[in-house]
Amino acid sequence: MKTLEIHIQENAKHYPIYIGTNILDSHFIAYCQTSRKKWIIITDSHLVDNLAHDLQNLLESKNIPCDQLHFPAGESYKTRETKQKLEDTLLKKNYGRDVALIALGGGVVTDLVGFLAATYCRGVPVMYIPTTLLAMVDASIGGKTGVNTATGKNLIGAFYQPVAVFMDLNLLKTLPPKEWSNGIVEIVKHGLIQDKSLFQLLQNNPEKMTDCAYLSHIIHESCKIKQQIIQQDERDLGIRQLLNFGHTIGHAIETLEDFHIGHGEAVAIGIIAEAYLSALSGFMDISIVEEITRTLRHYHLPLKTSAFNDLDLFKKAMILDKKSVSQTPRFVLLDDIGKTHQENEQHVFSVDSSILDTMLEWSQKCFS
Ligand SMILES: NC(=O)c1ccc[n+]([C@@H]2O[C@H](COP(=O)([O-])OP(=O)(O)OC[C@H]3O[C@@H](n4cnc5c(N)ncnc54)[C@H](O)[C@@H]3O)[C@@H](O)[C@H]2O)c1
Ligand SMILES: [Zn+2]
Repeated sequence: MKTLEIHIQENAKHYPIYIGTNILDSHFIAYCQTSRKKWIIITDSHLVDNLAHDLQNLLESKNIPCDQLHFPAGESYKTRETKQKLEDTLLKKNYGRDVALIALGGGVVTDLVGFLAATYCRGVPVMYIPTTLLAMVDASIGGKTGVNTATGKNLIGAFYQPVAVFMDLNLLKTLPPKEWSNGIVEIVKHGLIQDKSLFQLLQNNPEKMTDCAYLSHIIHESCKIKQQIIQQDERDLGIRQLLNFGHTIGHAIETLEDFHIGHGEAVAIGIIAEAYLSALSGFMDISIVEEITRTLRHYHLPLKTSAFNDLDLFKKAMILDKKSVSQTPRFVLLDDIGKTHQENEQHVFSVDSSILDTMLEWSQKCFS
């Protein structure tokens, strides 16, 4: 088993992340036994009959008090309404500050349950057991919690840290291939912004993702990168923007495809296009764009989208990004694999409109 400790400077809090196989029957149970709380497992409807049921049985077999709630699976249920229904159920059951929540699921579950924990009885402890690769390497680290509204994603929420995160690789056995690629793309992104050797591992070993020791190493290295970044900038005011590499374009693709494209698929295209932008800006060698594209192709990403059909619409969609300033999109750019471009402690950059146009026309040819 591997461990990481996240330290949040702002409030001197810290919590452990455990990564390994079969850690639920051992480390997770030991952790729950140290607390006198009643544990409430909250999961989504896809995971009730297998994962949540097994977890509840495990806790009960050790005489640890617990209960279980669930909500319908899917991004469209990451809402205030779902949160409210769960809160009302907890209140009806007379649960107060004596409970601790366990978010068992993908990023939808960890985001929503994390937010619920932040506000229930003015804050109760929450533990994360991520069950998707994306939730392991991304959503369960960093303390961003929240829900979507009709106006946009993650607009209502809180920074709220879990008490512990248990990443048991056994849980990934049932994960569909499409969900794997969402996580892999974020790991590739972590390598590209900060760790060339992580990128090279992914470049050279696509077939090894089913090897538990290898996977656990990759997850650990990837979590370490997010850990180092968020520890410097919990509130997303500066260096945390680096985690947005590939996302200015990725988010625009998702918006124009009305979210019918997977996040990983959209960000994979975003990564290549923003790498190309880095090369056009003269920061990075153009050959690296091809190297990144080849690596992403190893993971069976389609790298196709209709989002570039109308480039004027694409420009408008890019401006909606939270990094935009004065209607101008900004990007994380690379100097090299594992190294982002920085000037005067700035991490995101706007580019000349002619460079932007060249990149968009190139993307239209490559990805349509
Ligand atoms: N808080 C953050 O920092 C952060 C970072 C990245 C993403 N996110 C959020 O994460 C969400 C996306 O997370 P996600 O990709 O995990 O989606 P998800 O939670 O919707 O899970 C994807 C699908 O996989 C199913 N699933 C989960 N685990 C499974 C398993 N082990 N076996 C079989 N099926 C399983 C789920 O039921 C769901 O249908 C988005 O809402 C996004 O905003 C948050
Ligand atoms: Zn992402």
